[in-house]
Amino acid sequence: MNNEAIEKAKEHFGNILEKQLQRVENMKKGEEWIDYKSLDKIIIGIVGGDGIGPYIAKEAQSILEFLLKEELENGKIEFKVIEGLTIENRAAQMKAIPDDVLEEIKKCHVVLKGPTTTPRKGDPWPNIESANVAMRKALDLFANIRPIKVPKEDVDWIFFRENTEDTYVLGSEGINVTDDLAIDFKVITTQGTDRIARLAFEYAKKNGINRVTIVTKANVVKTTDGKFLKIGYDIAKEYPEIQCDDWYIDIMTAKLIDPKRRTGFKVVILPNLYGDILTDEAAEFQGGVGTAGSANIGKRYSMFEAIHGSAPRMVKEGRAQYADPSSMIRAGAMLLRHIGLEERARNLEMALDICGQLEKKLSITGRPGGATGKELSDYIMDTLKDPELEKRWQSYQ
Ligand code: IPM
Ligand code: MG
Repeated sequence: MNNEAIEKAKEHFGNILEKQLQRVENMKKGEEWIDYKSLDKIIIGIVGGDGIGPYIAKEAQSILEFLLKEELENGKIEFKVIEGLTIENRAAQMKAIPDDVLEEIKKCHVVLKGPTTTPRKGDPWPNIESANVAMRKALDLFANIRPIKVPKEDVDWIFFRENTEDTYVLGSEGINVTDDLAIDFKVITTQGTDRIARLAFEYAKKNGINRVTIVTKANVVKTTDGKFLKIGYDIAKEYPEIQCDDWYIDIMTAKLIDPKRRTGFKVVILPNLYGDILTDEAAEFQGGVGTAGSANIGKRYSMFEAIHGSAPRMVKEGRAQYADPSSMIRAGAMLLRHIGLEERARNLEMALDICGQLEKKLSITGRPGGATGKELSDYIMDTLKDPELEKRWQSYQ
């Protein structure tokens, strides 16, 4: 009986190894980075997603439409609204991303995506893979970049979370060897680590940042985290002007709360799962996950999203219009910067800082009594129109 179970598990494991080695081969080919400047037209996909997603995506879209008015008019940029990445449709098709939706997404260069519901055991939905995780894999979006800023407290962090490996990549392909034995897999590759670490060091170099921190649990998870750490330090040698240190995820989680330590962290590189957890904690300093945006960057495609979930409860309780769109709008700013529109990205970020943290004339509570998402996005839009925007922002520094 056990022998049969072991043989079946071995076969499953063998298939996994083949696929992962193929992925390594693909990474070795070293695809070129897309050059947006060489494109006649940049297509921006807008994917609403589930729950509060369509509500907050709409606000982000109208702010981008305002900022990109000229390019939309002269055809340099086009928006493509993509329907169908909903839990209902995904469940009906039993696909993390239905084929026709993925095809539409692949016609875009960059995508702004609302949160999607991730089914888990016990939900009314079939236990299909997370659309986020599937999209990161399908488009090879290997870098999940999550900046957190709290200017008043001198917090200015940027997390480079590896996005295509670790416990996530085979998260839906674990094995129940027997009723009693469940096994999941953690995958780290040389190429996968190299590319995220390089991106982080390049970012630090370009922005004059003199410190990069690698976070693992390499003292315990020796093979995979050990590899991640070693490659991180190997790449650090190519950047002698940048100080590189490393922390274990447990103490790192603690030190983010230590006011004396935390302001010292700047650029942080982490494997996927630690990155997932630490960035939620980090976002809490900035006002919660509702305020943080996230860039999922690959060489050909990029996707920008909120770091939080779809909050189906808010919709069920009729509170969707009170959802905070800041996270999606911040993701929109990251999108603008990524396609080379630095000044507009910066203006949008200043407006977000003013409206969400510095001046804060409106308060979003997620409930009646608080501002609606539309009111906040109108406030941000008015702030963007202020010719004295920069001065107004500076006055709080
Ligand atoms: C995130 C989210 C996703 C993740 C979920 C929705 C699968 O928590 O983007 O951080 O775990 O990556
Ligand atoms: Mg998360």
